[in-house]
Amino acid sequence: MEKHSLNGTLIIFNAFNLILLGVLLRSGMQLFPILLIMLLSTSLVQFLTFRLLNRQYREIKDITEKVSMGDHSQRVPTLNVEEFNELGLSINKMLGRLDSTIGHLAIHREELRLIVGTIQDALWSINSEGKIEWANTAFAELFDLYDETRMQYYWEVIREVSLLSYIREFDSSSEHRIQEISLAGHTYLLSGSQNPDAQRMVLLMQNIDDIHRAEQMKKDFIVNLAHELRTPLTAIKGFSEAMEETADQQNMRYLKIIKNHTNRLINLINDLQTLIRLEQNYSINLQEIDLVTFFDNIKLILDPLFEDKDVELKVDIDPTHPRFCVDPFKFEQIFINLVENSLRYTEKGQILIKGKATESDLTITINDNGSGIAPEHLPRIFERFYVADPSRNRNSSGTGLGLAIVKHIVVLHKGTIEVDSTLGVGTTFKIVIPANNAS
Ligand SMILES: Nc1ncnc2c1ncn2[C@@H]1O[C@H](COP(=O)(O)OP(=O)(O)OP(=O)(O)O)[C@@H](O)[C@H]1O
Ligand SMILES: [Mg+2]
Repeated sequence: MEKHSLNGTLIIFNAFNLILLGVLLRSGMQLFPILLIMLLSTSLVQFLTFRLLNRQYREIKDITEKVSMGDHSQRVPTLNVEEFNELGLSINKMLGRLDSTIGHLAIHREELRLIVGTIQDALWSINSEGKIEWANTAFAELFDLYDETRMQYYWEVIREVSLLSYIREFDSSSEHRIQEISLAGHTYLLSGSQNPDAQRMVLLMQNIDDIHRAEQMKKDFIVNLAHELRTPLTAIKGFSEAMEETADQQNMRYLKIIKNHTNRLINLINDLQTLIRLEQNYSINLQEIDLVTFFDNIKLILDPLFEDKDVELKVDIDPTHPRFCVDPFKFEQIFINLVENSLRYTEKGQILIKGKATESDLTITINDNGSGIAPEHLPRIFERFYVADPSRNRNSSGTGLGLAIVKHIVVLHKGTIEVDSTLGVGTTFKIVIPANNAS
C-alpha cells in the first residue's frame, strides 16, 4: 500500500492553494471571486484532510474496541498515513506482549490449579464478604456441605465453632498467622494469609496427626529411658560414695570422677523429665505468694551451693507490692536454674536477684559478674541442648536444658524473659510476668 506522511500531504495541499492564488491573481480577475474560489479550495482541502484522518482513526478505534471486548486476536492493519501506521504498529506490538503474558499466566494458573488440587491438606480462599471463592478437593472432602457450584459463606460450610472463631480472628488480623487446632479427633495446623490487594484471605489446614504421634513416641521413649536409667545410676552413685570410705588416694580421684559424671547424668534425666512434664501439662497452678518469703526460701535452698565458692548470693525484693500470683513450684525452678548457671560461670563476686511487683506486673532480674555470654550465642541459649562454647567449660558445662525449662515456665505464666550479657563483665536475665497471667 502506498503510504504518505501527514505533514507531506498538508504541504502539498497548501502549495496547491498558493499556486492557485498566484494563477488567479495573474489572470486579472476581480478580488471578490478570487476570495470566493480560495475559500472553496481551502474548505475542500480541509474536508479531504479530515476525511483521511477520520478513516485512519476509525480503523484504530474499531480494533481497540474489539480488543477491549476480549478479542485479543485483533491487529491494526497497515494504514496509509505514516503517523497512524506507526501508532498501529505500536498497538500491535503491545497486543503481542499482552498475548504472551496472558499465555504465561494461563500456564502458571493451570500448574497452580494442579498443585492445589492434588494437595492433601484443605486449602481455600475467602473474599471480603466471607464467601468461599475457591477450595481444593481436600477441603470438599473434609466439609460435606461445600458445594462448588455456589458461592457459599464460609459459616454455611464450616460448622465447628472453634474453627469458625479462629477464622474470624484471622480475618481481623493483617499478618500471617498459624494456629494449632483440634477437630473431630484430629490435630491440624491452621494458617491464614491475607491478600489485601484482592481483599481475600487464603487458609490452609494441615493434618499434623503423624507429627504429633511421632513427638509423643519421642517423649514416651525419653520418659521410659529416663525411668530405666534412674535405678542403675542411683546404684552407681550410692556404691561409689560407699567405696570412698575405704579408697586410697588414687582410687578416691577415680571415684570422684565417677560421681561427677553420674551426677551429670542424673541431672540430665531430671531436666528431661521436667521439660517433658512441662510440655505435657499446659496448666499452671496459680497461688498468691508473698514475694519476700518466697525469695527467702529460694536463698535457703541455694545457699549450700555457695559454700565452696567465693561468690555471694544477694536478694533484694521491693516490699511495696508484696503479693503476686504464680505457680510457686514451677517458679522456684526458674531461680534455681538461673542461679545455678550464674554460679557455674562466676568465679568471684556476687549474684543479685532483684524483684519488684506493681499493680500490672512483676519484674525480676538475676545479675552476675561472671564470664558473660558471647553475642553470637545469645539468640540461641534458650534452645534445648544449646550450650554456648562448651569447650570453654568442658568440666563444668551442663546439658543445655536449664534455660529451655526456664523459658517454658515463664511462657506458661504469659511472661517474657530477656538476656543481656557482656563477655568478661557479666550476665543479666530479666523476667517480666503480667499480673493477669491466668491461662
Ligand atoms: N549466667 C551465665 N553466664 C554465662 N553463660 C551462661 C549463663 N547462663 C547461661 N549461660 C550459657 O547458656 C548456655 C545454656 O544454659 P542452660 O542453663 O540452658 O544449659 P546448661 O547450664 O549448660 O545445662 P543445664 O542447665 O541443662 O545443666 C550455657 O551452656 C552457658 O553457656
Ligand atoms: Mg543451666
